[in-house]
Amino acid sequence: MRLPRPAAFLAFALAACSTSEEPPEELVVAPILTSAEAQDEFTWAKPTEARVVHVSLDLGLDFEAQQVGGTATLDIAAADGAREIVLDSNGLEVSSVTDGEGDPLEFDMGDNPDGDEKGEPFTIHFAAEDGVVTAPEQVVITYKSAPGAEALQWLSPEQTAGKEHPFLFSQGQAILNRSWIPTQDSPGIRQSWDARIAAPAALGVVMSGIRRGDPASGPDGTKIYTFEMEHSVPPYLISIAAGDIAFAQLGARTGVWAEPSVLQAAKDELGDTEAMIDAAEELYGPYRWGRYDMIVLPPSFPYGGMENPVMTFLTPTFIAGDRSNTGLVAHELAHSWSGNLVTYASWRDGWLNEGVTSYIESRITEQVFGKVRAEQEYALSYAALAEMVDEMGQGNPVTAMRTPPGTSPFDTASEAIYDKGTVFLRTVENIVGRERFDPWLRSWFDNHAFQPATSEMFLDDMRENLIKDDEELENELMLDEWVYGTGLPSNALKPDPEAFAAVDAAVAAYADSRDLTEIETEWPEWSAAEQRRFLERLPEELSPSELGALDNTLGLSDTRNAEVQFLWLDAALRNRYEPVVPQAEEFLTRVGRNKFVSPLFAVLMAQDEWGQDIAKALYAKTRGGYHSMTRGNVDNIVGWTE
Ligand code: BES
Ligand code: ZN
Repeated sequence: MRLPRPAAFLAFALAACSTSEEPPEELVVAPILTSAEAQDEFTWAKPTEARVVHVSLDLGLDFEAQQVGGTATLDIAAADGAREIVLDSNGLEVSSVTDGEGDPLEFDMGDNPDGDEKGEPFTIHFAAEDGVVTAPEQVVITYKSAPGAEALQWLSPEQTAGKEHPFLFSQGQAILNRSWIPTQDSPGIRQSWDARIAAPAALGVVMSGIRRGDPASGPDGTKIYTFEMEHSVPPYLISIAAGDIAFAQLGARTGVWAEPSVLQAAKDELGDTEAMIDAAEELYGPYRWGRYDMIVLPPSFPYGGMENPVMTFLTPTFIAGDRSNTGLVAHELAHSWSGNLVTYASWRDGWLNEGVTSYIESRITEQVFGKVRAEQEYALSYAALAEMVDEMGQGNPVTAMRTPPGTSPFDTASEAIYDKGTVFLRTVENIVGRERFDPWLRSWFDNHAFQPATSEMFLDDMRENLIKDDEELENELMLDEWVYGTGLPSNALKPDPEAFAAVDAAVAAYADSRDLTEIETEWPEWSAAEQRRFLERLPEELSPSELGALDNTLGLSDTRNAEVQFLWLDAALRNRYEPVVPQAEEFLTRVGRNKFVSPLFAVLMAQDEWGQDIAKALYAKTRGGYHSMTRGNVDNIVGWTE
């Protein structure tokens, strides 16, 4: 569904229209917001002058050179008098630019000598026709990604489960896609897209769009895959993965891709996915994206999960054999409403995506796994937030949900975005009651579907449609303090004290007695959340014999749950427990998930020479296997210099 340009431009001149009716087809281009709250500091684009509305990629995957290359054809909408369009680039190697008719256009690639994460402005100059500068309907960019493109991770066969074929995946969020796609890489500039991808015939390809038909044979033994995303999405959601992958159907509209040897375990672990979609739809309205498939990636994937539309990307480390870590799936699925349907316009509103999503995750968890598990997860969130505020101080700007200007989208504290967002919405829900809060949140998604949003819009909508001039309610909610203020507001909903009562009593008793007799019988009965709570609350200092007893009695080294293993490694390494070192080395060599890798290197570096020597020697071996995001963090932790 391509749009004639003048109509498309009309639509973004409309700014944020909030109507729940489908706009007529010629007005489908999502508006860009221009309020001060909506400004994105991390783009070079000037979308009120000229903006991208559709991206069409025709790319080949070169595993040898570790580059993608081909053309990107952009449909653009320009205001009257616009003379250029400014795109984002991070190291793109552009060889030519033409208009849709093939007539060359001039372009400049700006400098970025310090390798700043914002990258370079990539400006395409419009040509003059009869002395008048006219915006073309399309620009066609012929380019390659740089070999070290930050969004892309090229894995050697050894880094895969099958060990035979290479693997590629991308991670666009937050501002990495400009390293492989020449477009306006800003979450408020929504774009539909399609892609034609040529890949080595032995590999399968998936993207965050619907696959059209079976792959065709291309030149030089390649296969050509075609994908399409007909909705306008923030461009960080365009993603790709390619490798030796197979598919298993889960339900009518759900399925999972994984390397063949991982597929059965992945399928078993994901058996609740349809039930999760049903739960979310009941609360927040129809799932609007068609299919919901997932891909379980090799373990170097730097996140737990990424909500790429119609194709959630997942770490394999969530597979525990008992579905205990599938809150992750509820989370990525929830982004189909909060994040992908309604998206923050600026990185400063991280909570609008992640906090609202964490709240929905907890509602899905309650529906699918019951209230006890949901209450435990809420207690973990609340504790994380309270501890962070305690440590940083009630007035510290890093504790604000709307983050301070200039904050890199990679440098936000997850407690302020995820946990505070959850506690905020649970607090509002508790005060107004679900029978009013649930329909309101649903209407928020309906009214802003496929559009960017800001904190200000969220609060305005809440005031207009939920609070409705009820002054007492307004005062009770403390909305501005929650969203713009720092620390933990005084009306925060406290977790159920029963949630972890048994575990907390057991760990307190253990701290005094160092005796595991009773815990040994309780441990297998405990939920994964309870086991994690126990390990998190262990005494800071543990002797080698105590650590040995914990390991033997609770079977920590043999756990199939990576979250549990991580907490065990953390406790053992902070106490310089020599027997655990080979296990830590194996884990850090195999797994690249930043949430595990960065803290474990930090624990080692916080020791004396013992830990620092282990960390430095190990990192020299593992660094090449990590994604750029994980690598960037660990470089700082170990003081890496090339
Ligand atoms: N969208 C995030 C991942 C992300 C956030 C990438 C910001 C880059 C910048 C994803 O949905 C996420 O939150 N993942 C979490 C899941 C967890 C909270 C259940 C993760 O990977 O740990
Ligand atoms: Zn998320």
